[in-house]
Amino acid sequence: MVSYPSSFVRFLFCVLALTAGLLWTPSGIALADGPPQLELPKGKECVKPTEWMRRNHMDFLKESRELAVREGVRVKSDSLKNCATCHSSREKFCDRCHAYAGVAPNCFECHHYPK
Ligand code: HEC
Ligand code: HEC
Ligand code: HEC
Repeated sequence: MVSYPSSFVRFLFCVLALTAGLLWTPSGIALADGPPQLELPKGKECVKPTEWMRRNHMDFLKESRELAVREGVRVKSDSLKNCATCHSSREKFCDRCHAYAGVAPNCFECHHYPK
């Protein structure tokens, strides 16, 4: 009555388990939704290369703040105000990505950035 060799059945189970394991991720739902659609900025280039900016804009902004607040050195292109000249909607750009990444910078409690 054994229609399949049991090793084959075990193999099938292994494949099933592996596939299930690969499909299951803690952020499975987020992955299925894909990354957020960000509003395309005005202008051709960011103040730094895009890839760099994606990873480092937080430190970049904080450094710029340090410089302005501690040293009184203001670099206009590195200010939050300048970001908004190209990324004109906080909701459709900054907020959208932050919600996806699960971060909520408090900067906008003080800094005006157009919604
Ligand atoms: C409690 C209020 C407050 C919060 C919160 C705050 N800032 Fe500021 N920030 C200020 C003030 C006040 C200045 C000085 C403004 C000036 O003199 O033009 C400043 C200056 C700056 C500057 C330099 C000038 C400019 O216009 O860009 C940057 C950059 C900056 N902040 C970034 C940030 C970032 C990034 C965050 C969030 C991580 C943040 N700030 C959170 C109050 C705040
Ligand atoms: C002169 C216009 C301009 C200014 C000013 C500007 N950006 Fe950009 N930014 C762009 C462009 C263009 C891109 C590339 C978008 C793309 O390739 O989809 C970009 C990309 C980015 C990205 C990566 C987005 C992504 O799709 O991953 C971040 C983050 C970013 N900018 C943050 C900032 C911040 C913070 C400031 C202010 C310090 C700023 N930008 C100022 C035009 C600008
Ligand atoms: C492509 C996605 C993306 C976009 C677009 C984006 N951010 Fe971020 N931002 C992140 C991520 C991810 C973090 C958290 C990074 C970490 O904690 O290491 C972050 C963190 C920050 C922080 C530091 C927060 C803290 O309290 O440490 C600031 C400030 C910030 N973003 C400002 C902005 C501003 C302003 C814009 C719009 C001009 C913007 N970001 C657009 C992904 C993005």
